Amino acid sequence: MQQTKIAGIGMYVPAHIVTNNDLKEFMDTSDEWIQERTGIKERRYAHRTEETTTSMGIKAAAIALQRAGITAQEVDFIIFATLSPDYYFPGCGVLLQREMKMKEIGALDIRNQCSGFIYALSVADQFIKTGMYKNILLVASEKHSFGLDFSTRGRNISVIFGDGAGAVVLQPTQKQGILSTHLHSDGSAAEVLAMFNPGTHANHWLDEKLASFDDAEMGQMFMSHAMIDNAENFPNMDGPAVFKKAIIKFPEVIMEALEKNNLQPTDINLLIPHQANLRIAQFVQQKLQLKDEQVFNNIEKYGNTTAASIPIALCEAWEAGKIKEGDLICLAAFGSGFTWGSALLRW
Ligand code: ACO
Repeated sequence: MQQTKIAGIGMYVPAHIVTNNDLKEFMDTSDEWIQERTGIKERRYAHRTEETTTSMGIKAAAIALQRAGITAQEVDFIIFATLSPDYYFPGCGVLLQREMKMKEIGALDIRNQCSGFIYALSVADQFIKTGMYKNILLVASEKHSFGLDFSTRGRNISVIFGDGAGAVVLQPTQKQGILSTHLHSDGSAAEVLAMFNPGTHANHWLDEKLASFDDAEMGQMFMSHAMIDNAENFPNMDGPAVFKKAIIKFPEVIMEALEKNNLQPTDINLLIPHQANLRIAQFVQQKLQLKDEQVFNNIEKYGNTTAASIPIALCEAWEAGKIKEGDLICLAAFGSGFTWGSALLRW
């Protein structure tokens, strides 16, 4: 059976750099606190009106397509991973299809937060392996800066996230490529890292009270003043709970991929963990006893770009000459849901 290879890769980050000290303008925080707890020195914020999740994704996609040597019209399937879409619906996939003037191909939107790229890669791998598609464009992009609580109330989460996009073109190959992908979830902790509104959950008690509400009250159900006062329109996170689970699941899912392929941690040429937090990546490195040159991190420059963090890091590592043909590359992610996953590739 044919395998799936990454034929082209691209990334885009907005020009606007926001340092930890810049954030002090809005909230009670410090460069020392952020660097010590997360490893982040700065992140990028998209232009408020001129850049969107889709427009950043298009910039990354154009580079990936050019490196793969194909045009947008040759793409036969789009997968778009994001948790910060331009619209509540439709998803970014169709916006990308329109803006890049692609054929009337399928466009699939993936919303698995930090694991979005791994989930998307796994889906693309199945389509390529079965021969259904030959040129899949996978784009992961986030514009977090549009919806973070920049007051002191939201400082535990707002300092972590940044904006950016990564993209890959996936094609069939007879040798190497993706060896295996591994996906997991545990919804028992869905609310530990979540953005609750706008969401239909708020209406769960509607039935019994429905009769007594007038139209104005009904309209407020979707996004009421109370929801905004309670910061339910911003991401919420129990940071320590995320940290504790992440340091268990990251090594576990990396070992799952290695064992499936009869390989050891020492065989990995480069591990690219989702850039959630440098402390998590360091813990994983220590647990698997990986050398510094076996792990690539760039969170200090971009913060956590959720679905986009792995393709951005992969692209930077490749551009820096840290990935050579034949190298064993391990990608791993953990995030909201909880969802987590890994992919092992022979470059
Ligand atoms: N600046 C200064 N102080 C802060 C900040 C900030 N930005 N944020 C929180 N604090 C304070 C808290 O208010 C608290 O103060 P208190 O002791 O007076 O109450 C103190 O710092 C400690 O707060 P904790 O939340 O216990 O801090 P912790 O050491 O756990 O670090 C952090 C917080 C960095 C969020 C950590 O829990 C973490 O990294 N967790 C993993 C989170 C993560 O990686 N999320 C992303 C992964 S999933 C995804 O990518 C979607």
